[in-house]
Amino acid sequence: MSIYILSIESSCDDTCAAIIKDNKILASVVSSQQVHKFYGGVVPELASRAHQQNIVPVVERALKIAKINKKQLNAVAFTRGPGLLGSLLVGVSFAKAFALGLSIPLIEVDHLQAHILAHFIQEQGASSVTPLFPFLCLTVSGGNTQINIVKGYFDMEIIGKTIDDAAGETFDKCAKIMELPYPGGPVIDNYAKKGNADAFKFSKPNIKGLNFSFSGLKTSFLYFLRDQLKENSNYIQENKYDLCASIQRVIVLILMEKLKKASLHTGIKEIAIAGGVSANSFLRDSLLKAQKQLGWNVFIPKNEYCTDNAAMIAIVAYYKFLKKDFASQRVAPYARSGTKT
Ligand code: KG4
Repeated sequence: MSIYILSIESSCDDTCAAIIKDNKILASVVSSQQVHKFYGGVVPELASRAHQQNIVPVVERALKIAKINKKQLNAVAFTRGPGLLGSLLVGVSFAKAFALGLSIPLIEVDHLQAHILAHFIQEQGASSVTPLFPFLCLTVSGGNTQINIVKGYFDMEIIGKTIDDAAGETFDKCAKIMELPYPGGPVIDNYAKKGNADAFKFSKPNIKGLNFSFSGLKTSFLYFLRDQLKENSNYIQENKYDLCASIQRVIVLILMEKLKKASLHTGIKEIAIAGGVSANSFLRDSLLKAQKQLGWNVFIPKNEYCTDNAAMIAIVAYYKFLKKDFASQRVAPYARSGTKT
């Protein structure tokens, strides 16, 4: 008998629902909240209100695309954390009520684990190659930057992480300094295609081991532009493509340097990337180059599974369902990793 699971993702500013049948995704719906564009970043209170408005239509749409009736569902999964507490609460409360109403189990999923296990998403009618354990995964999103050794679906070890800002946050903040729209990562990626990445030199931080730091780079970018603007108020406008290409280059160089070090240190050549920043075209190209030069076996998710989505929650839920790893109705969300109660 097949297993059908509805999954909900509401950790930040995307309201997402997916339906999985065994390990095959039948539907994955994402409703991105537009309201934050006016503010240059996510406003938590507005995000939770928008989730409340979006969640019912998004779930209805997922059920319709999957062509299943809610009575066929065997479980409801949700992102428990990390993320914005108000946003998570909407998804968690919805999932609890839905599971209670249908008398089916609840499954809690960790958002970062889901980004990594997105590599195991299978689509109906398509076969895809998945990484072999153990593999290294560089997870780069708006709130996190870390390298994990992934030894099994539920056996992961963090071997490096950011000591301050995340890579996605750095893209977004540098874009904001240049008065580009939010989220800045995709805009920088696009503008960079028309620019010269060697036009400006921004220095990489000197952080020992496999940890990352981005706050110094962000500050040096801010001060550099502040000085240039004193001389020429049109400086950003006149150089925006080169500025985007140059800042993108250094962010990706920092990520690649640590990933190469991690591979050397662990001897693992099975390499994956995950999270919103893994949609970045220069990072993708750099990985493919490393695949050729270093003999890596590289895994890059489809763009729609890089940024927040519920298909990644569904695949984790499927493996948890097989273990009968269910959550209680008293479960509460957590804002940060390591703060579960
Ligand atoms: O994983 P995600 O959707 O949300 C979480 O933070 O969990 O990641 C969002 C981040 C944002 O910082 C966004 O600017 C960045 O991913 N991003 C990109 C690109 N697409 C999204 N950064 C660089 N290049 C891109 N193409």
